[in-house]
Amino acid sequence: MRQIIFATNNAHKLGEVQALLDGVFALKTLRECGITEDIPETAATLEGNALQKARYVYERTGCDCFADDTGLEVEALGGEPGVRSARYATDGHNFAANNRLLLRNLEGKSDRRAHFRTVIALILGGEEYLFEGRVDGTIIGHEAGAEGFGYDPLFVPEGEERTFAEMAAEEKNAISHRGRAVAKLVEFLQTKTKN
Ligand code: IMP
Repeated sequence: MRQIIFATNNAHKLGEVQALLDGVFALKTLRECGITEDIPETAATLEGNALQKARYVYERTGCDCFADDTGLEVEALGGEPGVRSARYATDGHNFAANNRLLLRNLEGKSDRRAHFRTVIALILGGEEYLFEGRVDGTIIGHEAGAEGFGYDPLFVPEGEERTFAEMAAEEKNAISHRGRAVAKLVEFLQTKTKN
């Protein structure tokens, strides 16, 4: 089976994407390719970061690969935290502090619309492709639910009454930004294997 590298160190994401790619492509991890250092993510956009990571891996390995980048874009905050979603409140991935800051910045604002956006950059046969997945919703005024991660306890997707953190993983993945972007990637890779 054709192999492809997923430029992530997140075991959860790897498992999720491998399940979707089953029988189409075999996923290789960064570690299996000898890449153990952190890959730089210094671009100003999600697209830029995803491409930066995929190009880094391609330059190091010459192999087909893809990378993703995700952000929460809040209308009333001009698209913030966006590309800075992981480091909104602190330098690290402090989800609790990020959620507190988001709630504080939205205090008194009636427009609570937001969306998650995932961009996947794929390099296949040396060609670059971008795929986007998006889910619209609202930011509620308090955390609800214990599933998922990040901003999940504050985000209620359109057409739902529960936050992502109140949904089972399969329920979230079926409608999430990342689920939608990965579905587009998988569909594209499936057509490529048929040709
Ligand atoms: P990454 O690009 O997938 O690492 O995501 C960057 C940051 O966006 C994470 O550290 C989280 O703060 C946030 N984020 C990404 N995906 C999700 C999600 O599915 N739910 C909630 N927060 C997310």
